[in-house]
Amino acid sequence: MTQRIVLLPGDGIGPEVTVAARTVLESVCGDQIEFSSHPLGGCAIDEFGTPLPDATLEACLAADACFLGAVGGPKWSDPAAAQRPEQGLLNLRSALGLFANLRPVPVFDVLSQHAPLRPELLEGVDLFFVRELTGGIYFGDRQERTGDAAYDTMSYTVAEVERVAHVAFKVAQKRRGKLTSVDKANVLASMRLWRAVILEVAKQYPDVEVEHQLVDAMAMHLMRRPSDFDVILAGNMFGDILSDEAAVLAGSLGVLPSASLGEGKLGLYEPIHGSAPDIAGQGIANPIGAVLSTALMLRHSLAKDAAALQVERAVRKALADGFRTADLAGANETVSTTEQMTQAILDRL
Ligand code: IPM
Ligand code: MG
Repeated sequence: MTQRIVLLPGDGIGPEVTVAARTVLESVCGDQIEFSSHPLGGCAIDEFGTPLPDATLEACLAADACFLGAVGGPKWSDPAAAQRPEQGLLNLRSALGLFANLRPVPVFDVLSQHAPLRPELLEGVDLFFVRELTGGIYFGDRQERTGDAAYDTMSYTVAEVERVAHVAFKVAQKRRGKLTSVDKANVLASMRLWRAVILEVAKQYPDVEVEHQLVDAMAMHLMRRPSDFDVILAGNMFGDILSDEAAVLAGSLGVLPSASLGEGKLGLYEPIHGSAPDIAGQGIANPIGAVLSTALMLRHSLAKDAAALQVERAVRKALADGFRTADLAGANETVSTTEQMTQAILDRL
């Protein structure tokens, strides 16, 4: 059966890493998949006056899985702009009902020499973030600036916290059985509800050890004792912030993948890095976050677990064999382009 993949290359380095993702998927799935490409983000504003054109949304709704490169850039960041590229992505996540964002943090031994943390701190680090993606302050009531004020609202319902909690507990059951829920329950009402719901849901998973951390303390623990954590569950904004912080452990933001999932099989897969306008168009972006996102796609949407593992192993092998994009290279290492790194991965598949 042919599976339909929608590609959303987006802006900046998005199109470059999307080529890498597509090539890897073609190599492992052959003609069992059919691609179509659609505008999202800044390029869609330029062409259609909206960051999420109806045709793009329709294609995504009809797909088996979607891949996104990146959205945004200085061209569209005027604070007074009526349309923002990021809004297209947020509306897409919401319209597809993708409430659970999975962000594994791949820590490669061969990269630990270059991570800003001492290598011994990285020993045994294996983190997996589950971020709530369609609620919280990203989607609460808001007022753009009028005069001297503007506001955003953080709100959560029991049902919203429950459904993402179940995803996180199930992930923890398949891993080392530990879940750290992040909140700010000492200050925020929505976060007291968050913690209460996690405590309730935890009763259904007696095999998972649960702890609660305040987000400020968690930001510090992640750098001081990252190997103590397994699954980290957080709301939309805290998960966004902490997962970028955790990228330091992996050596570069460029290697982190993500999967956004809802109730069904349809998912949106994207590297967690942004559009990196400073290096766009130069062919030097790291394709690993994108390629590892295709592994998540193979696993969660396309029912190809074995292929997912092959892709992950090929990435590991390419790194072990010394291939480094600019963001990963040390002083005396040879730097690979996006295309060379992609080829190195394909050669090891
Ligand atoms: C991410 C990004 C997005 C987010 C932006 C581009 C809207 O930072 O996926 O982490 O904040 O969710
Ligand atoms: Mg982010």
